[in-house]
Amino acid sequence: MSHAFQQSVITEFRANAGKVGGPFEGSDLLLLTTTGARSGKPHTTPLGYVRDGRRLLVVASNLGAPLDPDWYRNLLAHPTVRVELGDEEFESLAVPAEGKRRDDLFARVVAEEPGYAEYQDSTDRVLPVVVLELPDPDAEAPAITSLADKLVEVHTWLRAQLLHVHAETEAHFAARASHGDAGAPPPPGLGLQIRQRCLAFCQALEFHHTAEDGHMFPTMEGYHPHLRDVFDRLRVEHRSIGELQSALAALLADVAIAEPDRFRAELTRMTKELTAHLDYEEEQILPLLADVPWPPAAPAPPAS
Ligand SMILES: [Fe+2]
Ligand SMILES: [Fe+2]
Repeated sequence: MSHAFQQSVITEFRANAGKVGGPFEGSDLLLLTTTGARSGKPHTTPLGYVRDGRRLLVVASNLGAPLDPDWYRNLLAHPTVRVELGDEEFESLAVPAEGKRRDDLFARVVAEEPGYAEYQDSTDRVLPVVVLELPDPDAEAPAITSLADKLVEVHTWLRAQLLHVHAETEAHFAARASHGDAGAPPPPGLGLQIRQRCLAFCQALEFHHTAEDGHMFPTMEGYHPHLRDVFDRLRVEHRSIGELQSALAALLADVAIAEPDRFRAELTRMTKELTAHLDYEEEQILPLLADVPWPPAAPAPPAS
């Protein structure tokens, strides 16, 4: 798709709640916004998709070209993506399927959109099938009225993601342990599911701590100068956790996690340190944020 044509499809999609005419009349399209692997800039692409229960399946076909499309390389580097579907927009974790699951899902796609089989025939690449989970329709968003609520919401998400990576990692090790020994095929690597989720967690954590160090703590310290020791300690903890997070991200740099045992050990250290940090931060600063309204009040219009 040429850049200009792609832009016109995006504009039409957004103006018509996801409906696009011309060559796409009647086909299922979504807009996928990834973060550039090198540039860090947002990059939006219209893509065909197949719905599979609570999942959307997209194929990195690149029309059967020899190289993976940019959006696929981007989501390996930054697994958190934005999806526009109809008039909805949501964040999703992008996880390429692997092994037999990939083959089953690809067959599911081809059953609905046979064109993908032709793309597969025209390249040596195994076309990646990427799973995008839809948001849980029953999930109730907690009422956020103060900055304290907002902080708890972010912390709760971070804790849950870390537990999730932990549970998946332990399940993987349990599967390895029961894999049999002599003559058995080698156990599978840690897998893209764990990699993508853990990388998304690391990136969200880095973003959160950068915002705290850059804006929130300096502002709060101005109001509460007697709590200087608390903020100093929190900053030191951020640096220490940042080192653990860099170590984890380095282990995840390759698509295959090459050192599962080291990964597991670093993850355990991270969980311990981060949990203690979140507990201390909540204990010390939540009471100070309970009266700060969220979202921030809009500035008053200029007097005329
Ligand atoms: Fe923090
Ligand atoms: Fe925090």
